[in-house]
Formats: sequence, structure tokens, C-alpha cells
Amino acid sequence: MKRIAVLTGGGDAPGLNAVIRAVTKTAINIYGWDVLGVRDGYDGFISPDGVMPLDLGSVRGILPRGGTILGTANRGNPFARKVIRGGKEVVVDVSDKITAAIKKLKLDALIVIGGDGTLRIAMELGAKGVPVVGVPKTIDNDIGGTEVTFGFDTALMIATEALDRLHTTAEAHHRAMVLELMGREAGFIALHSGVSGGADVILIPEIPFRFESVIKKVRERADGGAHFSLLAISEGARPQGGQLVYRRTGDEVYVPRLGGIGQEVGQYIEAQGFETRVTVLGHVQRGGSPTAFDRWLATRYGAAAVRAAASGCLGHMVALRNAQIITTPLNEALAVPKRVDVTGDGVLTARGLGISFGDE
Ligand code: F6P
Repeated sequence: MKRIAVLTGGGDAPGLNAVIRAVTKTAINIYGWDVLGVRDGYDGFISPDGVMPLDLGSVRGILPRGGTILGTANRGNPFARKVIRGGKEVVVDVSDKITAAIKKLKLDALIVIGGDGTLRIAMELGAKGVPVVGVPKTIDNDIGGTEVTFGFDTALMIATEALDRLHTTAEAHHRAMVLELMGREAGFIALHSGVSGGADVILIPEIPFRFESVIKKVRERADGGAHFSLLAISEGARPQGGQLVYRRTGDEVYVPRLGGIGQEVGQYIEAQGFETRVTVLGHVQRGGSPTAFDRWLATRYGAAAVRAAASGCLGHMVALRNAQIITTPLNEALAVPKRVDVTGDGVLTARGLGISFGDE
């Protein structure tokens, strides 16, 4: 009998529980394996009670639930753990400790559900002999090697609904409405929701913008009788020749947090004489129940990860290509992060509809 473990790492994304459920059910129903769940990412291996058995009862009822029953962490790189010691930030490598704890469990496979960072760690643990299989997750949809990650569709639906709601109030008050969206340095959420929600301006990291070009669009609309505008802005958007905008909360020891570009653009529009309001959608995009598409994709990913483990396809991640679930080597998938193709169909479609990317 084989024994596998599953963990969730990085920021949560709707659909994590659907993967855990599919992994557990497939491993037990089809193969009769032992399944372990690891709490709070890789740290679970070295925490008291950090590893727990998963059976069919443990995953009952979790399919529509957001979050992850295992917990997650996006501050837990075992190879470069930043800790504060004596008031100072120091980086320590705890990967040997984690690898030893994993080896002690005598796993036949460790299924790692994560984004770019978590999967990269999986790859490095793989090099130390840990038998890993990856499952790509992130609302940002920025992982190479796969057409789509689960979580993205749900975030997109929430962002589109937010735009729909902002649309009516923008029109009623004759205002410009700015919606700042997540995505890190990939503009997929803003592009797809902006098109789906009828935005007039979409600003994404892949197309640096000019403030003058943004206001030109708002003014053109007002001159044409449309006294309101809707702007979908990626948190990673930046002006031509400018820098990414980060939140300066002072509490970010580990990962700098993007945020604030929406406010900057909003202030600029207001200064040009157009009443403006700014909404930052934030973690609402990651919470709640996954869409049917994300449940379907997450479930297929989970089942395929178990099949990959069964066939000894380690060091790979499952992926979606041409509507089929495939496996692809982790090092190839992670070699280049996925970004919006600025000459691709999505951007061309938006331009054809008269949407401004702030670059003309
Ligand atoms: O990668 C997912 C994501 O939600 C990004 O879109 C966002 O920039 C980041 O995580 C936020 O991270 P945190 O949960 O640490 O605030």
C-alpha cells in the first residue's frame, strides 16, 4: 500500500478544497492508498500535529467551500526563511529539517498544490529526493505550462460583478469609477474582467500607461455625452518609465505587497476635473465558493495528480492544454511566468471595442 501526502501553499484560491477532496477520494477509491494532509504548507512537516490522516469523511462537504481545510502559508519558504531575531531580519535555511521530516514519513508522493513560489520550492525539494507532484493554483493565472490555473475563474467572476455594480453607480452620479484588482505582475484578472464588465480603460502591468492617455479617454467619453467612466486597473500596472506601487504598511517582513496605483490614477483623474471614486477589491477576489469551472478544473487536477503519482510521474505538475489534462515537468512550467500577450486576441479584442490601455 502506498502513502501520499497533500499540502496547500501560498495565497489561498477558490478550489483548493476541491483538489484536496479529489486527491483523497481518488487515492482511496481507486488505489486504496493511505492519505495524509499537511497543515499550513511545508511548515506542517515540522509542527506538532502538522500532519493528519485524511479519509473520505474528512473531505465530505468541502467541495463548495473556499479557503483550504489544511490551512496555508505564503511566508514559508524553507530554503529562505526570514525570521526576526533580536529585532533583526535574518534568513535561515530549514529545508534539510523539512526534507528529513518528509523522508521519515516514507511518502510515495507529496502532492503540492500551489502557485509559482510553492511549486518552485516543491521542485527544489524534488532535487533533494522528495517525490513531488504539483498542482497549479492561483487567482493570478500567471503560471507557465498551463492554460489556466484554478481560482482564476472565480476571481474573474467576482471582479466582473464588482465592475457591473460600479457601472450603475458611476452612471447615476456621472463619476469615474476606478477598480483596483489583484494579479501581481500579470494583468489577466483586469483584462478579462475589464472586457467582461465593460470597462472603458484597462491598465495592466504588461502595457505601461500614460496618465494623459487615460484622461484622454475619460474626456472623450464626456465630450460624447457619456459622463461616467469605468476603469479596471491591475495592482501591478505602472506608468511608462515609472515604478510598481507598493503598500507601505511597514509590517511586510517577507513579501512586498502591491497596491495603491488605483488611488494614484483616481487622484489624477479627479485633479483633471472629473469626480472620481476608487475601490480596491482586495481579498474578496480570493474568498468564497469556487465557480463550477474552478470546481471542475480543480477536481480534474486533483485526480490527475494522483494518477501521475501512481505512474511514477514525479517532478511534474498537472496542467490544462487544449482542454486536456496533461503533466509537464515542473522546471519547464516554471521557467517563464505567464503574462498577458499584448499582441494576442484578448488585447486586440479590447482595443477593437474602444477600450483604452492608456498607451495611445
Ligand atoms: O497571488 C495571489 C495574490 O492574491 C495576489 O494577486 C496579491 O498581490 C497577493 O496574493 C496578496 O497577498 P497577501 O494575501 O499576502 O496579501
